[in-house]
Amino acid sequence: MAASTGSGSARPAKIRIRHLQQAKEAGRPFSMLTAYDQFSARAFEAAGIEALLVGDSVGTTVLGHSSTTATTHQDMLTFTGAVARSVHRPLLVADLAFGTYEAGPMDAVHHAVELVRAGAEMVKLEGGSAIAPQIRALVGAGIPVMGHLGFTPQSVNALSGHRVQGRQAEAADQLVAEALAVQEAGASAIVLELVPAEVSARITAELTIPTIGIGAGPSCDGQVLVWQDMAGLSGFAGKFVKAYAQLGAELERAASAYHDEVAERAYPGPEHSFE
Ligand code: KIV
Repeated sequence: MAASTGSGSARPAKIRIRHLQQAKEAGRPFSMLTAYDQFSARAFEAAGIEALLVGDSVGTTVLGHSSTTATTHQDMLTFTGAVARSVHRPLLVADLAFGTYEAGPMDAVHHAVELVRAGAEMVKLEGGSAIAPQIRALVGAGIPVMGHLGFTPQSVNALSGHRVQGRQAEAADQLVAEALAVQEAGASAIVLELVPAEVSARITAELTIPTIGIGAGPSCDGQVLVWQDMAGLSGFAGKFVKAYAQLGAELERAASAYHDEVAERAYPGPEHSFE
């Protein structure tokens, strides 16, 4: 993706929202991964990933909760800060945690300001026309917004589990209308999760802002995955996931070799010991 700092410095060019917009207009797909810590974030930056999402999925992937509804605002501040201190180039997006924006626009702005102070360059929140006032207030406060429609994990209870959204014609039309409402409210991009490929293709064609799919088919302007799924660490094998490595098995192999060498006094050897 062509991106320029305009500063003439040798630092890798910073990705900004306008570069995602330009990518959509040029028909050039871009990639986003979740990131929650220093070393993974640096690896994704080195790999050229354009956007990093400090997702509230940190609650399930790192903190051991069973739902993102357990992720707190403090969790989001901690992990957003960790990623922000670690990388420069990717656009840094952070989730507004469940319970930090539903009460109204001022609540959303208050919490989003803290995320921006922690290093977020854009905030993501789940929902459509119902949260349009929050999106407007955030944009009015100078905070760029990424929407999130389709399956919205913070509403897992209301949606009766992880289910593809917009399968019936009426639900698909509703999803298109909600996406337009999010765009109209001022969002700069939108995540579409667990949406039939045909419906996300329709939304991507109707919206002027970029769509970013997760389980939403190949037509979205960008794609996002939870990094532990992408790297084969979580063991999650949902239909939409492709594991590009088997980090879980590799980590277990390394830990097992370490364990065996300690038990055999083969580690540490003389080369690891001080005189
Ligand atoms: O929190 C998260 O990881 C997300 C992705 C599923 C898009 O919102």
